[in-house]
Amino acid sequence: MTSSLRLGIAGLGTVGIGVVKIVRSQAALLAARTGRQIEIVAVSARDATKDRGVNLSRYDWEDDPVALARRDDVDVFVELMGGSDGAARDATHAALDAGKDVVTANKALLALHGQALAEQAEAAGRVIRFEAAVAGGIPVIKALSEGLAGNEITRVMGVMNGTCNYILTRMEHSGLPYADVFQEASDLGYLEADPTLDVGGIDASHKLALLSAISFGTRPDFDGIEIEGIERVSIDDIRAAADMGYRIKLLGVAQRTGRGLEQRMQPCLVPEASALGQLEGGTNMVVLEGDSVEQIVLRGPGAGMGPTASAVMGDVCDIARGFRMPVFGQPATSLEASVPARAVLPAPYYLRMRLADKPGALAKIATILGNSGVSIDRMRQYGHSDSAAPVLIVTHKTTRVALDEALTAMQATDVMRSAPVALRIEAV
Ligand code: NAP
Ligand code: HSE
Repeated sequence: MTSSLRLGIAGLGTVGIGVVKIVRSQAALLAARTGRQIEIVAVSARDATKDRGVNLSRYDWEDDPVALARRDDVDVFVELMGGSDGAARDATHAALDAGKDVVTANKALLALHGQALAEQAEAAGRVIRFEAAVAGGIPVIKALSEGLAGNEITRVMGVMNGTCNYILTRMEHSGLPYADVFQEASDLGYLEADPTLDVGGIDASHKLALLSAISFGTRPDFDGIEIEGIERVSIDDIRAAADMGYRIKLLGVAQRTGRGLEQRMQPCLVPEASALGQLEGGTNMVVLEGDSVEQIVLRGPGAGMGPTASAVMGDVCDIARGFRMPVFGQPATSLEASVPARAVLPAPYYLRMRLADKPGALAKIATILGNSGVSIDRMRQYGHSDSAAPVLIVTHKTTRVALDEALTAMQATDVMRSAPVALRIEAV
């Protein structure tokens, strides 16, 4: 057996302790599979005195993760602190500078600084691996960059924030409004310290930016993503969508269009019977489409100690075996700058509105849609006890530009009782 692979782990929270546990409990299996012993030599976190439920006394302690990253006896720097800047960024640069490979679960760091880090790593002949950064335990980075390497990727999409999917499915099953379920999720400890990372769609967009880079050979472009969170999804929309045969998901979609790279993260309707429509609770799902493979669907836990540490260890094992690959699947210097394209491809839309219950109100709305070239596929009006009639419309495929024109005109009428809701229906 060749020399052992020596890890330095910065960050001993949920994921870091999960990694320590696997390295200890699966030592023989890891050695058998990689041909090398995998050992931890040193660790770092903020508080050296904290009881973390495992005995860490056998490892050297470093207060400073940068010092850990530079240690001569560390081969792989495992960054599990989190945050796009500060210690995580400084220590990752330091590790690459000192000739170490890096494994990280940090999607924010790579979505915002991945290009510079990848260029640094590749210039130095080092690797950065980040399976755990996207969809936790699902090996989607491997699937895209290795298993589907012979495909031109046509579209990637997915539900990649478990907390949002928990909130949306819990709203549907309990009938509770968003604010109540948000509080439940908070009480259960599901939300990030800054909850807008989850419900604002930012965490999932970090992940989408990384998938896009691998899929389309473009530089990670978080700023090019159109982002809308779930904060405005109402229980009325969840019920109405279900009534029309759909479920609402915070869906990330990336695809090339004639005008550039379309990347969007937004609440969308998907058919209830589809794999995405059936996704419950905190589970993640990623759908990958390629010219040869057509479509594959990956489903699994997107977070948590075991699943995330499992993904980290997959990367560590690849390094132990000597498997090396450019960070985003092709040399970083060959990645194109992406040209962001606002959602231009036509899609059907779901519209919910409250109209004055008087003769001609619906006709006015139908005329406006027709004038903008938006064709109605299905329509439903519900019973009501006040003077406003709830109306649902599913359109045929239309562009967002045409729809926005119609929505603006509708709001200028005297029949609209509240701002209409428009959600895209994604073909999945
Ligand atoms: P966590 O439980 O909050 O743990 C973070 C760890 O980093 C803590 O041990 C903390 O030290 C340490 N740390 C933070 N800032 C530090 C600094 N400046 N210097 C030294 N140590 C520092 O976080 P986590 O959930 O394990 O997440 C770690 C990474 O994995 C993040 O990038 C996250 O986005 C990613 N991730 C997490 C999950 C998940 O399910 N949790 C899933 C996918 C990806 P103290 O303990 O002393 O405070
Ligand atoms: N907050 C994230 C989620 C954790 O809910 O999916 C994993 O990134």
